[in-house]
Amino acid sequence: MARIRIDADRQVGVVDRKIFSGFVEHLGRCIYGGLYDPTDPSADEHGFRTDVAAAIKALDPPVLRWPGGNFVSNYQWTDGIGPRDERPVRMELAWHLTESNQVGTDEFLQWCEREHYEPYLCVNMGSGTFEQAQAWVEYCNAPAGTYWADRRVANGRVEPYGVKLWALGNEMYGEYQVGALTAEQYVAKARAFAKVMQRTDHTIRLVSCGKDGLSEWDRIVLDGLADLVQMHSIHVYTGSPDYWVNVLSPYQADRALRRMRALIDDVTYRRSIDHEITVAYDEWNVWYRYTEGIWEPSDQPPLEERYDLSDALAVATYLNIFVRHARTVGMANLAQMVNVIAPIFTAPGQLFLQTIYHPIRLVSEHTQEIALDVQVDGPTHELVETPETVHWLLPAPVADLNPFQMLDVAATRDVERSVLVLTVVNRDPSDSVPTTIELRDVVADGTGEAHTVTHRDPAARNDFDAPDEVAPRTTSFIARGGELVFDFPPCSVTVLRIPTVASRG
Ligand code: AHR
Repeated sequence: MARIRIDADRQVGVVDRKIFSGFVEHLGRCIYGGLYDPTDPSADEHGFRTDVAAAIKALDPPVLRWPGGNFVSNYQWTDGIGPRDERPVRMELAWHLTESNQVGTDEFLQWCEREHYEPYLCVNMGSGTFEQAQAWVEYCNAPAGTYWADRRVANGRVEPYGVKLWALGNEMYGEYQVGALTAEQYVAKARAFAKVMQRTDHTIRLVSCGKDGLSEWDRIVLDGLADLVQMHSIHVYTGSPDYWVNVLSPYQADRALRRMRALIDDVTYRRSIDHEITVAYDEWNVWYRYTEGIWEPSDQPPLEERYDLSDALAVATYLNIFVRHARTVGMANLAQMVNVIAPIFTAPGQLFLQTIYHPIRLVSEHTQEIALDVQVDGPTHELVETPETVHWLLPAPVADLNPFQMLDVAATRDVERSVLVLTVVNRDPSDSVPTTIELRDVVADGTGEAHTVTHRDPAARNDFDAPDEVAPRTTSFIARGGELVFDFPPCSVTVLRIPTVASRG
């Protein structure tokens, strides 16, 4: 029997809904053939697929990051504005593809406006200059009357877009990145970019380009840019064909966020920074099959990872970690939204929802504002890492975090204490875990809901001909008092929504 203890008074932070944000890159079939395809039966008058838009909408991402990713480091944003038939087709050097430029700044920002997403643009710090970044902020945000703002007006858009979130480059530490830099070179270059961008619009919020939260790069970059940025970006991708490594490797994010908290506190104190700095986990997901050639033949579009139930558990664990680190995480962007390592998978005229879609949707829908401390006692698992089980995408082993609780739990409540939401991941592949949930300072009072994603086979997947092989199931229950008993099925994610009232106990 496991025991989960939650005290409604023990807050660990306020959840920023931006942790449910997304990322779309000009890569393979993410934009072209995913988000945008004027030939698709579901396309709207602008060429964007309405079926994809509806599936994204249900995930309710507050922010979408664009246009890359590695793509951005060789992207000239000026190629993507003005009459479409005059836009150049470019060689794309990050992913060895071509870029038609049919979706550019105006198309993306207007789609975001129609769909009510806040755009988050990443500037090209690879082949790009600070003059080009400055011009992009002017094009997006300045009122008419200067050169780049007037180019926007000439392209049919009078009102500035008012883009607030801007990233200073993408993964600039990577040898694979066009224009890769050392940390010191990056800091010097980013300071020049930041200053002209902020002088163009002092209301923008800048994001420094970090690495994985664990590297020297993060320390040097945060130290060099803390006075200019509001967020520091880090990325994490994990995954392994080994079940236990796959479901436990998201704890990389937990370790990274603990270190980032320490780095942020340190630099804030040492350099007397008077504004808040948070982490933008602006790329995260399970991603290993494509990279290792496990899934796709080489003639398929790139990065079209196909997810199973174990990946859904991993993704739910990531979200639980972001909730538990609510004080530190200001934004997290699932990489990516459509086709490319994504929860939504399309073909012409149809789509299906991958396994990972369901926990993301449920957690996004039900998570409340106040993150609570949670104590879990129950069965545990010891991870045995061998060179064979540790996948190279893991930045560091996680076995030193042994033993792992079989249940991973995050809890949130609303300000009024009228509802408590728990996301419970049971990693045990074969056994359910009977659990007592013990409440303090609130008691359950009414009809609750349990939304569960599970399957008898941890390797179960969805597909065009079996779109609901892994799908959520909802049951209701009557809950009264300070103790509830649940049996969490093997290999499952359960979102429990419990109506509560304050207690004096
Ligand atoms: O999301 C896919 C790629 O992963 C991005 O382009 C890059 O930033 C990261 O390495």
